[in-house]
Amino acid sequence: MAKITISAPGKLMLLGEHAVVYNHPCLVTAVDQRMQVTITILKDSIFELEAPDVDIKGYKKSLSSLGKGDIPKGAKFVELAVANFRHKYPFQGGIHIETHSEFSSQFGFGSSSASTVCTLKALSDLFKINLSSKDIFDLSYKTILDIQGKGSGFDIAAAIYGGTLYFLTGGKKIVPLEARGLDLVVGYSGIKADTVSLINMVKEKMNTHKEAIDKIFDGITDLVEQAHQAILEKDWERLGTFMNYNQDYLEDLGVSTEKLNILIKAARDAGAYGAKLSGAGGGDCMIALVSPETKEKVSQAIENNGGKVIKVSLNAPGVRIEI
Ligand code: MEV
Repeated sequence: MAKITISAPGKLMLLGEHAVVYNHPCLVTAVDQRMQVTITILKDSIFELEAPDVDIKGYKKSLSSLGKGDIPKGAKFVELAVANFRHKYPFQGGIHIETHSEFSSQFGFGSSSASTVCTLKALSDLFKINLSSKDIFDLSYKTILDIQGKGSGFDIAAAIYGGTLYFLTGGKKIVPLEARGLDLVVGYSGIKADTVSLINMVKEKMNTHKEAIDKIFDGITDLVEQAHQAILEKDWERLGTFMNYNQDYLEDLGVSTEKLNILIKAARDAGAYGAKLSGAGGGDCMIALVSPETKEKVSQAIENNGGKVIKVSLNAPGVRIEI
């Protein structure tokens, strides 16, 4: 039986979250903790999924009912990815899928997008459909929008291309940046954030206070552009300052939490160049930009204040065939 294993990296938003949903740019880096998806072609026209990391065991349905009925949360992205692929590129036979993640789906590292990307890449290779990275992006982005309704697709771009990227909503711009030397300490706040509720909360504010939110997003864009330049110049001190200012805007937007604020302050007091939440906010992780000299002290400060430090290396390679 034909079989393939694909892996894709997780991601961390550096600057620009939320604004990037509204046609503004962001900066994202891929982390070396990876999602792995193995697909085996079956004779019978059936869809099987084993995703123990998200409590999916022995999940089965006919290919004709893909994407229909009540779909468990942990199965949604992979199932919809297969449904979207099959709609565009009909295939015979069934498929058995196993997913395995090196990182917890609690961290906000983008496990849903990474599994979507791996699934589509695996299907295109198994069924010999020649898809470019941009084709995989477009199909993955459609899958995310089908499920979430809103989102920028930056996490998909990180999973596909890897490295560090300057990204504009919907993949209108995806520019790889040389960011060697960029080093972050990642602190998990212990609370799982619900990205969709946070996106909806900001959407609500956009409806009621458009002018104020537009101003915040314009300010964030300015920081993203300057941070882009600071990364190219490897000016970590300036990049840290822009991260701090970005955090101020996120607090104004109302997406930071007390726990995140405590960890961010602790990291700054311990000598980080800058620190901010990373992702939707409401929990998940904060990031602190560090030098080799401050890394240990910043990590300690985060742990001492109740955060969990997650060790990652940045600029990880994008989606790839494992076996
Ligand atoms: C979530 O990690 C980041 C957001 O900007 C959503 C998105 O870009 O899809 C809030």
